[in-house]
Amino acid sequence: MKDILEQLEDRREEARLGGGQNRIDAQHGRGKLTARERIDLLLDDGSFEEFDMFVTHRCTDFGMDQQKPAGDGVVTGWGTINGRLVYVFSQDFTVFGGSLSETHAQKICKIQDMAIQNGAPVIGINDSGGARIQEGVASLAGYAEVFQRNIEASGVIPQISLIMGPCAGGAVYSPAMTDFIFMVKDTSYMFVTGPDVVKTVTNEQVTAEELGGASTHTRKSSVADAAFENDVEALAEVRRLVDFLPANNREKPPVRPFFDDPDRIEASLDTLVPSNANTPYDMKELIHKLADEGDFYEIQENYAKNILTGFIRIEGRTVGVVANQPMVLAGCLDIDSSRKAARFVRFCDAFEIPLLTLVDVPGFLPGTSQEYGGVIKHGAKLLFAYGEATVPMVTVITRKAYGGAYDVMASKHLRSDFNYAWPTAEIAVMGAKGATEIIHRADLKDPEKIASHAADYEKRFANPFVAAERGFIDEVIQPRMTRKRIARAFASLRNKKAATPWKKHNNIPL
Ligand code: HXC
Repeated sequence: MKDILEQLEDRREEARLGGGQNRIDAQHGRGKLTARERIDLLLDDGSFEEFDMFVTHRCTDFGMDQQKPAGDGVVTGWGTINGRLVYVFSQDFTVFGGSLSETHAQKICKIQDMAIQNGAPVIGINDSGGARIQEGVASLAGYAEVFQRNIEASGVIPQISLIMGPCAGGAVYSPAMTDFIFMVKDTSYMFVTGPDVVKTVTNEQVTAEELGGASTHTRKSSVADAAFENDVEALAEVRRLVDFLPANNREKPPVRPFFDDPDRIEASLDTLVPSNANTPYDMKELIHKLADEGDFYEIQENYAKNILTGFIRIEGRTVGVVANQPMVLAGCLDIDSSRKAARFVRFCDAFEIPLLTLVDVPGFLPGTSQEYGGVIKHGAKLLFAYGEATVPMVTVITRKAYGGAYDVMASKHLRSDFNYAWPTAEIAVMGAKGATEIIHRADLKDPEKIASHAADYEKRFANPFVAAERGFIDEVIQPRMTRKRIARAFASLRNKKAATPWKKHNNIPL
């Protein structure tokens, strides 16, 4: 019996070594952790239970039958994050470059299936050279099986991808269908075709970092939601994110202990909005002052900075925040900010996370590049996302809410539950100057008359009361009372149930 037990330990030890000590050293030499070290940091101490440690590939071509490392390049299993169940896979770059074989894919599919059945998030740690080249179509089939499960899991359980090494070819499409993608600066790349192929086909010379590094995907393409300095920081941030999320679409997000009075009065907010309507201020300050303990988990911080998206807690409960940022492009909506916010709103709605919308928006960004780029369709994504959302929604207009952007930003007409405005709110079709120049075109040559018309327009519309008189604004509130008011509003909405007509699915303007 003792022999058998020792044999088991020997086999486990061999499996844990993956592609061998030299390749592990090379992995460390690049500043990367191994697949197992990453799982250890991601999960609660001692909580990891591994599946399929002894699975090997079945390929016999190209001498592959002579190399059959146990585990086949991916470590899979389940464990907990702050006591809550999650499923995880972690590709092992030391084994055939983490490339995906038929059996490697089957291991991932097994935990995806279990996660869907048991209603728990899947976290994928990607570090892979793509399809296992020696296996050909069997590997492609494996990818498609993983993709299909990503699609089935979408909107049912949260799916989070960490990119911690190269991610080429098919390896990018599974992460692309998950809810969040996090990258590590300088050591992770994502591209459909690498720099060599790009050079051959388009004659462009580009480094891997420029083509698909963390900076490219968090600032230009918006493929990734955040980039971190190293593996350790990225894994710690994913643990933080998981704490905000429900386990699945039938459960509420966890309620965390909080030490911040929901009735906290924040006098400094009374002077947040400058007296000059064209002077910017930092909307992040408002978010931090509304959140429990000032904690804001921002999503896509470096992309489309004219809109802010992320999670806070109010009375210990997760709230998704969407806020115009007057510091960037005066907070106007454009193609990128509409896409960014629409995707965030849809995630929150799918997972029953209430939405707080903070509005200071002068309208949509004008220009040929916006129109040619399809701002009509992209802006409609955000409009559609809010309009289809059935989660509790609270909106606060701090300053400008002009034109179509007023409608889009969780207005009363899109079924937002509570619509508050600060006394500084200006709710109108457009700013006074623009409006005057259109209505009083005949007086355009007389600056005095135009100035007087503009002053009249401002007096009439640069306030929240015209909208409040119609019930489009439920109440005009004092800025200092905002945290208390929204905390009470969300508390009153905890049992909200909104019905939608039966349909197979909608046809959101993609
Ligand atoms: C089999 C692979 C592999 C792969 C890497 N390796 N990629 N083995 N299939 N796809 C092996 C290498 O042979 C090497 O083995 C080890 O992994 C480490 O690779 P290196 O090249 O030494 O590492 P590095 O210099 O860091 O380069 C990493 C890399 C490069 C950028 C990922 O290996 C690379 O370009 N690989 C090929 C990428 C690719 O074209 N994949 C197919 C994409 S097509 P040894 O034994 O020497 O350690 C695809 C289609 C799917 O994925 C479509 C689905 C829709």
